Amino acid sequence: MTDHQTLLDELNQHREQLNQGGGAARIDAQHAKGKLTARERIACLMDEGTFHEIDPYITHRHSDFGLDQQQHPGDSVIVGFGKIDGRKVAVHAQDFTVLGGSFSEVQGQKVAKLMDMALASGVPVIGLNDSVGARIQEGVYSLAAYSELFWRNTQASGVVPQISVMLGPCAGGSVYSPGLTDFVIMTRGLSHMFITGPDVIKTVTGEEVDVETLGGAAAHSEKSGVAHFVADDEDAACQLTRRLLSYLPSNNAESAPRTNPIEDLAPALDLDRIVPIDPSEAYDMQAVIARVFDPASFLEVHAQFARNAIVGFARLNGEVIGVVAQQPLVLAGVIDIDASDKMARFIRFCDAFNIPLITFVDSPGFLPGVDQEHNGIIRHGAKIVYAYSEATVPKIAVITRKAYGGAYIVMSSKHIRTDWVFAWPTAEIAVMGAEGAVSILYGKELKKSNDAAERARLETEFRDKFSKPYYAAASGHVDDVIAPSETRARLISALDFLRDKAVTSPARKHGNIPL
Ligand code: HXC
Repeated sequence: MTDHQTLLDELNQHREQLNQGGGAARIDAQHAKGKLTARERIACLMDEGTFHEIDPYITHRHSDFGLDQQQHPGDSVIVGFGKIDGRKVAVHAQDFTVLGGSFSEVQGQKVAKLMDMALASGVPVIGLNDSVGARIQEGVYSLAAYSELFWRNTQASGVVPQISVMLGPCAGGSVYSPGLTDFVIMTRGLSHMFITGPDVIKTVTGEEVDVETLGGAAAHSEKSGVAHFVADDEDAACQLTRRLLSYLPSNNAESAPRTNPIEDLAPALDLDRIVPIDPSEAYDMQAVIARVFDPASFLEVHAQFARNAIVGFARLNGEVIGVVAQQPLVLAGVIDIDASDKMARFIRFCDAFNIPLITFVDSPGFLPGVDQEHNGIIRHGAKIVYAYSEATVPKIAVITRKAYGGAYIVMSSKHIRTDWVFAWPTAEIAVMGAEGAVSILYGKELKKSNDAAERARLETEFRDKFSKPYYAAASGHVDDVIAPSETRARLISALDFLRDKAVTSPARKHGNIPL
């Protein structure tokens, strides 16, 4: 008869086997590529000793194409719960050593169970992705499993934060779940994302491209905007994920975690002179952000994408804030299609997860051009107005310099229900810049007279009226004009005032943001 010790020994043997994944040779091959195994990744990400696995014994149920010879307990994914900085998280990590981490019927079953539990418990979901895509041998079973994952990603959207960390070749269906999640982190040189690889592209379009150019970290962080962050290696990706999580609430019923307030930070007096008097001279909005928020607290999102806009998380006296801004150093802070998408998506994330928004405005307006018009700047720009208008979290704007025309309206103006709008003395709020305005208002006369002195006089007259914020402040469309060095203190007290803000939105199934 079996005794207890035998049963325990048997359990330990099973556990030993689980750690072997697809076998020693494939683990060596994974390491040789500079990649960690799924278990090593989980250990890197989680607080030590906190991870508890679910369903480690599940194996696939298929036999076609030799699958019956390739059964590994747990199949191609490891799922479970653990903690990061003492906070609960749900994690699924694809095991590339088992059939290339291919998405199988049971991989889908395991991840679905995890996500259902995470959603019910209000716990963030992190996916560590390293997969060749749908498991070809399983046909529709694999596709059905993917579909179930995509459905869950959609159901979880706006309820719990979802983070995708890309750690290998992610092809086909492997990119759509990340594409549905809130944040995508890629590892430089190790991760690739594409719907179809170079071979298929060559067959269909004749284009020749290598995987790095097609779907590497640079392509997705700079051009497509699919990746929000890039890490230099796997360890850096883990640390970045942990840091990102420190700014996020666990679910949409919570506030983001606060750190200790910094009471005695001296006002940054150099802010008072940071905006050049000459409107054609640029300055660095990052320097403004660094001086207003808690020291070194800014975590930029989409740092390499649409660099004319800046979005990211910062802390203000310990409280997490979503920061949206223009960057005058890049394209003078103009709003184009990519900047619109970048800002709108970030605003909506913050609103969904109770993170107040602070916006720094310095933009000459939307980028003119045939390319922008034909690619839908109207449709994309409308997303910013929509996102700010529907956001019910506390919203504060600071106009540092230009707020011309459309940029004035869409960048968190009072009219789309921003709670407080402050202007610096350098703020210029006008329908357009002085040169353009004078050409339109006095173009015919000036063409006839060709009088440069008169043109200059008219431009100065226009500037005098609109290049200072007092005209707008007198209308009540700006709440106050403040010295730049007062900004931090004013934002802290304005946010404190808004802490219990409650807004009722109209009853509807959902709005229809222009996508
Ligand atoms: C099952 C697969 C597989 C697949 C590769 N393998 N692709 N098994 N289904 N789709 C196996 C390999 O035979 C190998 O098995 C192991 O996984 C690792 O693959 P390698 O090719 O050795 O790895 P690597 O050299 O790193 O190349 C990775 C790769 C390449 C570039 C991703 O494997 C590749 O191009 N695979 C096909 C990608 C693809 O087209 N997937 C289907 C997408 S369609 P062994 O036994 O040697 O370890 C899709 C549909 C859903 O996903 C769409 C929803 C929107």
